[in-house]
Amino acid sequence: MNYKIALIRGDGIGPEVVEQAVRVLDTVGKNFGHTYAYTDVLLGGCATDAVGKSYPDGTADKCKACDAVLLGAVGGPKWGSDRPAEERPETALLAIRKDLGLYANLRPAVLRPALTDACPLKPEIAEAGIDLMMVRELTGGVYFGKRARYDTADSGVECSDLMAYSEREIERIGRRAFALARLRRKKVTSVDKANVLETSRLWREVLHRLAQEYSDVAYEDMLVDNCAMQLVRNPGQFDVVVTENMFGDILSDEASMITGSIGLLPSASIGNSAPGLYEPIHGSAPDIAGQDKANPIATILSVAMMFRYSFQRAEEADAIESAVDRVLAESFHTADMAGSGTPIGTKQMGALICEQITKK
Ligand code: IPM
Ligand code: MG
Repeated sequence: MNYKIALIRGDGIGPEVVEQAVRVLDTVGKNFGHTYAYTDVLLGGCATDAVGKSYPDGTADKCKACDAVLLGAVGGPKWGSDRPAEERPETALLAIRKDLGLYANLRPAVLRPALTDACPLKPEIAEAGIDLMMVRELTGGVYFGKRARYDTADSGVECSDLMAYSEREIERIGRRAFALARLRRKKVTSVDKANVLETSRLWREVLHRLAQEYSDVAYEDMLVDNCAMQLVRNPGQFDVVVTENMFGDILSDEASMITGSIGLLPSASIGNSAPGLYEPIHGSAPDIAGQDKANPIATILSVAMMFRYSFQRAEEADAIESAVDRVLAESFHTADMAGSGTPIGTKQMGALICEQITKK
């Protein structure tokens, strides 16, 4: 196959990790007979520096002309909250999610076999394993609701951020979660705050309807505060966790932390049509940018997700994932990962993974 891939290298360590992910793409191409047409797309702080806007005109169209988008990382203190909205990298991220219709954000949190020691939880919890898929609604809720700021007569300034969800928005993300669970351990935990929020009560109604339809999948509701607690108490209980945008933002950081390896975790954002967007869940780490210190594995595993979810090529995805596991099993690690093995840089990590893909 020939795949068209948009590359958003971004800021900080973004360009370095994307470079290694592209090496992996090329290696997979050689071994499985694929070619690629890459298009560089400018987005984030680097776009603000170049053209004065973090989300330059035509960005969505350039991405839509491709089969998938690979993003390194965007943001940094240089483009902070004191900047006008159009110069902030976060604005660009939200805009591209919305414009590409990427309503489903898949964030797997897996404790990789070679890294049980890195898990900050008690050994008996780590040994039970962690392999969950966080499915976060990505284009609705409080992130995209109406915002207001106004003066009141006696309390000074008042602000509001509206959280709204429609049945349609809830149903489509719910269906994604159940479909994913069918390919995994067949369990869905739906997380909400139905004891307080009306949006959560609607969320629960819709999810209950779906649970009847997908009766082969085990289903449970969980309140978000309890879920935050269960993630550190007994993360092995979770298979697919589905939740609204902001709860998912918070819980997915927690889920990544308990695997002890934020530098290893990929993500996929998908909608009903191509392109999907693939990115590591870590940030742009400006403090180590350009020093060959960054861990490219999360971006490389994002390429595996690209093969799995955008290209329907499980074999290529498995080849990348098992190559990563083999390199980790040999105790090679980058500076972010605790360990007694051999510390290596960004480029060498990429090279070793490519070598393993070719060996297999
Ligand atoms: C994430 C990030 C973004 C979010 C920020 C940078 C806008 O935290 O992808 O989780 O909140 O969605
Ligand atoms: Mg976040």
